Amino acid sequence: MLLASLLVPAIFCANTASGAYVVPVADGSGGWADALAKAKALVSQMTLEEKLNITQQNNDFPRVGEVNRLGYTGLFYADGAEGVRGAPYSSAFPMALNGAGSFDRDLMYRRAVAIGQEARAKGINVQFGPGVNILRSPGAGRAFKYNGADPYLSGQAAAEHVKGVQSQGVMSTMRHYIGNEQETGRRWTSSNIDDRTAHEVYIWPFQDAVHAGVASTMCAYNGVNGSYACSNPTSLGKWLHEELKFQGWVMSDFGAIVQGQEVNSANAGTDTVIGATFTAYTDDFVQGFVYPFGPDSVLASAVANGTVSESRIDDMAHRIVSAWYKLGQDKEYPKLNTSVNALSQEHNDLIREIGSKSIVLLKNDDLLPLSGTQSLYVFGQAASVDLYGAPYPVSFAFSPDQDMGTFLGGQGSSYVTAPYAITLFQALQSHARAHSTQVFGYFDNFNHTNQAAYAAIANTAGAACLVDVRHTCSEGYDRENLTASWEGDETILSVASQCSNTAVIYSSCGPFNVSSWSDHPNVTAILDAGGLGQEAGNSLVDVLFGVVNPSARLPYTIAHKLEDYPALPDFEIQPLNTSFQDVEYTEGLFVDYRWFDKNGIEPAFEFGFGLSYTTFNYSNLNIQSSTANLNQYAPANSTELYDCLALVTIDVCNSGNLAGSEIPQLYIGSPADGAPIKALRGFDTVGLDVRAKKKVEFQLTRRDLSFWDTYNAGWTLPDGEYKVYVGASSRDIRETGTFSLLH
Ligand code: BGC
Repeated sequence: MLLASLLVPAIFCANTASGAYVVPVADGSGGWADALAKAKALVSQMTLEEKLNITQQNNDFPRVGEVNRLGYTGLFYADGAEGVRGAPYSSAFPMALNGAGSFDRDLMYRRAVAIGQEARAKGINVQFGPGVNILRSPGAGRAFKYNGADPYLSGQAAAEHVKGVQSQGVMSTMRHYIGNEQETGRRWTSSNIDDRTAHEVYIWPFQDAVHAGVASTMCAYNGVNGSYACSNPTSLGKWLHEELKFQGWVMSDFGAIVQGQEVNSANAGTDTVIGATFTAYTDDFVQGFVYPFGPDSVLASAVANGTVSESRIDDMAHRIVSAWYKLGQDKEYPKLNTSVNALSQEHNDLIREIGSKSIVLLKNDDLLPLSGTQSLYVFGQAASVDLYGAPYPVSFAFSPDQDMGTFLGGQGSSYVTAPYAITLFQALQSHARAHSTQVFGYFDNFNHTNQAAYAAIANTAGAACLVDVRHTCSEGYDRENLTASWEGDETILSVASQCSNTAVIYSSCGPFNVSSWSDHPNVTAILDAGGLGQEAGNSLVDVLFGVVNPSARLPYTIAHKLEDYPALPDFEIQPLNTSFQDVEYTEGLFVDYRWFDKNGIEPAFEFGFGLSYTTFNYSNLNIQSSTANLNQYAPANSTELYDCLALVTIDVCNSGNLAGSEIPQLYIGSPADGAPIKALRGFDTVGLDVRAKKKVEFQLTRRDLSFWDTYNAGWTLPDGEYKVYVGASSRDIRETGTFSLLH
């Protein structure tokens, strides 16, 4: 223990004369040295006012300030978890959560490259995403922006996203740092997370994004352990800057700097702001739209009176400008023109592919793939366009028109208005025309007892029914129940009572309630579609008819009942106006499947679950672990955290009658005290022809095998034996083994 504490480098945070925390300056580590040197040279020519100007949002357009005199363009930014928001001619991609559900790194990467291409074409310097908060509670309103309920999966997806967007020279922004796991009371709740859980669950995916070179971080609205995320010396200063050695720049979420916290925000490491100042512990702007940073702001006065040093302002400017150099934006970057047509057939095809490879097949009693010759009866408001223009049922809506009809993705500030949308019914009609079959549509959920339809079904031999339902989700509120909107569940049950082959297609942003209908004998197929973007119908048709053999897996657990989940927001909670309301992360490390495993709760469908039209065998598990005498401890900022300490291989074989892709998953049972029974530490996508076999390899890093040791503030390899579980889901384990490390 003593040795370990000596290994922890001297804390390099500085303190002001007044004792307030001041974040360490960027030091160019991790490949940023050249960019930082160039930034320092440029910033040294700026006046204080110019430096302050580049820390604030420009009023005219989403832009962080420029210094034209020196050729520094400033940074235009765009939101959008599903593409480039706020600009015409942008593609509406499947949700980030769908990308995660594909468990396919290549697909996640290609999705991000395409988003990066569209952003660049429009001259946008900064694209917001990846969102890497954890789907802690099942109805989390912004789960669509995130990568599911597991930190490892989320981290892998975050890294692919950063690499993909930044391959186009566009900065990517990881958000919402940190603890923004619920929308309920997001501006006046404090997420209280113990140190070990913070590191092993919530910081984890952000660390992977930093490792991938992410240029910027958006700090969140909420408090973290009692102080605002954008002015928090622990989460911003210690965790992000000291431990992760983040070299890029931090922007506040829109209006996330609150009155009275401007100085603390600057000193803790917030480098720039978007939006105006809010009143603390409320949902309200300070009257008169006041900016917290910039030449005419509290920050400017703080520099004048010495509570924020000019060297901190220099560091802000260095971080922002060095990212501009690092991404090559100083060279021939396209001029801003949000109306540039960034659409392409290539992107449409990619969206269709991501869609079909992210639809999770949950149940299939021989109904799918459809034969192509059956008559199809299609029910449900999500199968078509908006029928009613019904009043929007929620308090926070950016795109009310999208509540009915086909669900493309989550709503709120990152909603991308799709250039077009293919509904399930349209796609089925095209298919029916090509195959001389018939398809009938009955979309009105409020008229689900459609006697004419049911009479037709009764008279059609071999008819199949499809019920397409949705549960809208958005920024600004969490889903209180997980039941399909607009009498969706009643529609499913009604159709199933009349049609012996009923497939349910469910669109939402995370888990949904299946308990009233999933075991119905006539519900012979269930598909979790998530939000598929503009090609929704085509992606569904590809899976329904077996053009694409489904391979996606659930990036969350679907429980039998709401009470089975480890964390639900208190929906009655109200702001106190003078201090935070606390949200205690009492489940600790036991998020999602870890909770169900620990407490022996049987889920309806577990994390990692997903069926295929073929079957796969697993054999020949082999484990090679390091034989070196390892240091047991690695400090938080160790460069060894990503070193490989063990290699696991397994053979996967397609034992069925159709080519397909399998997603083998590796879970570790760590001997560390208090560790989850299983924690995901590897997955792969393996495409296999019939009877083909492939060896799959998983590399386990030092961080994968360590626990966060609060006492030593570092990553520690536990004593004892690791259990290795490899299988097709978190509960369908096919092979197990063990190994130990020497230290
Ligand atoms: C959201 C952010 C978003 C910002 C700007 C905020 O309401 O929390 O995710 O990036 O708006 O659009």
